[in-house]
Amino acid sequence: MELINEIKELKLQLRNLKDLSPEERSKEGQRLNVLVREKEEQLRKQEQEQKMAEINSRLVNDELIDITIPDLKKRVGHLHPVTRVQLEVEAVFADMGFIIEEGNEIVTEFENFDSLNVSENHPARDMHDTFWLSDGRILKTHTSAKQNEMLKKYGPEFRAIFPGRCFRNEAIDATHENTFFQVEGMMVGKDVSIANLVYFMKSMLSAVFGKDIKVRLRPGYFPFTEPSFELDASCIFCDAKGCGICKKSGWIEFCGCGMIHPSVLEMGGVSSTKYTGFAFGFGLTRLAMMKYGINEIRHFNSGNLEFLRSIK
Ligand code: FA5
Repeated sequence: MELINEIKELKLQLRNLKDLSPEERSKEGQRLNVLVREKEEQLRKQEQEQKMAEINSRLVNDELIDITIPDLKKRVGHLHPVTRVQLEVEAVFADMGFIIEEGNEIVTEFENFDSLNVSENHPARDMHDTFWLSDGRILKTHTSAKQNEMLKKYGPEFRAIFPGRCFRNEAIDATHENTFFQVEGMMVGKDVSIANLVYFMKSMLSAVFGKDIKVRLRPGYFPFTEPSFELDASCIFCDAKGCGICKKSGWIEFCGCGMIHPSVLEMGGVSSTKYTGFAFGFGLTRLAMMKYGINEIRHFNSGNLEFLRSIK
């Protein structure tokens, strides 16, 4: 009540200003107006506090809320571990000048096989157990399915990575899923060599694991690269000393790679006499397993929140 009366009094004083000289009226008018606004603001706050106090007392007294329930912890979500590793890999390659693109999940037989030197009766088609769609297209079995498109789009000189989800109709175990992520990389230009590939893979792995990682090449076979290699990384669990995970070898199999086969370059419209290139494809889900020390791939697609929350 006090405040209301004070405001009434101030407004009365404002009305009586007419008896003053114009200069005094203006000065006094401003002062009184400021006071009125301050008092009105105080009054508004006072009324709001009173209302809140009334509501709170009703909630407690009428037992609309139980104040004995312990405070519920606020849960803050986070990105899926595979997404986190993907973002890290992308950042490292982006810093090294690589374009980043994502590919389609449904692709043509040409993209997944023929453009990669795997013609209809090639025995290498059996290396991937393929999910076929009724219209003859397929769920991509590897990110290499985008190589031809990238060559046509950016050739003859570019460097790019393209992460994506892959599907294989194969038996599932602790390290094999039917749905998993890969990251494909390509670099095409004049005088591109395997030495460049080794440099980029070593740099990426060392950045993701925050320590010096060594890499080595072993002979491998892929119809779309010649020569082809399997690239191993020094074991991050024992720092290459030899442990149960690396089977005492000090090395972990990391990815398939090689120099892009001349006919793959040509099918992508890039002259194989003028240009060379490397390509690699590694398992992003497997990289996430290495990064977070997870030995069971099936956790990733399980939707098990307890597992996901445990990866900080
Ligand atoms: C390929 O898919 C080739 N496209 C890689 C490549 C690209 C070679 C460019 C040369 C040039 P591979 O089938 O080995 O190769 O698969 C590559 C990686 O994908 C594997 O090392 C593994 O980490 C991951 N991977 C393959 N199959 C599965 C699976 N069923 N579950 C989880 N990860 C898998």
